[in-house]
Amino acid sequence: MTASDSPRLVVMDHPLVTHKLSILRDRDTPSHAFRQTLHELSWLLAHPTFDALRLVDRAIETPLEPMTAQAMPLPYPCLVSILRAGNGLIDGFSQVCPEASVGHLGMYRDHDTMVPVSYYTSLPSDMADRQVILGDPMLATGGSAVMAASKLREMGVRDIIFSCLVAAPEGVAALHGAHPDIPVVTAAMDRELNDKAYILPGLGDAGDRIYGTE
Ligand code: PRP
Ligand code: URA
Repeated sequence: MTASDSPRLVVMDHPLVTHKLSILRDRDTPSHAFRQTLHELSWLLAHPTFDALRLVDRAIETPLEPMTAQAMPLPYPCLVSILRAGNGLIDGFSQVCPEASVGHLGMYRDHDTMVPVSYYTSLPSDMADRQVILGDPMLATGGSAVMAASKLREMGVRDIIFSCLVAAPEGVAALHGAHPDIPVVTAAMDRELNDKAYILPGLGDAGDRIYGTE
């Protein structure tokens, strides 16, 4: 399976995911509990996110007989974190898929314009050959995700899956408008953006809540 074969939008519907999201949404959850809960959620979100993982046939021998098994192709996928908050998801994804490389795209939203500003890029040089899982907890206006996906496309990456915790309809529309073939996997689809482009009901500023920098 490749990303373009998968549904364009997957919204998780699982009581444990809903419970953990409620902890994250609660303004009284302290930063250490927020980080821990996000880490637990990242393992649950990994399940639908990795549904579109590419596999190839590989001849192996079990202790009993030869067989054609299926395994990830080389080079292994790259998990790309949109800094800072993306690390909260990608750290968990890399624990369930430790073979994957981890790349980083640093970007922050300008507080006045809400337009993302890119400040750092660190990716393997053979990105064009890899399947990519792009992770960021929040998909708000979609500006950061679109900029990140466009950078990956410029490097020749074809197969990208975008994974987040909370998406706004505006962000999904923006990402699909710019990159129609990128599936979006999210733990929740929220109502709308406020006039400062924060997601409602949302969970606030994910980076600040993870790192206690409010
Ligand atoms: C947050 C979030 C996304 C972005 C989403 O990052 O982690 O990257 O906003 O908003 P958008 O869809 O409107 O682009 P932020 O800019 O706050 O940076 P941080 O992770 O360093 O806190
Ligand atoms: N970024 C966040 O961290 N939270 C939002 O609600 C919107 C963008």
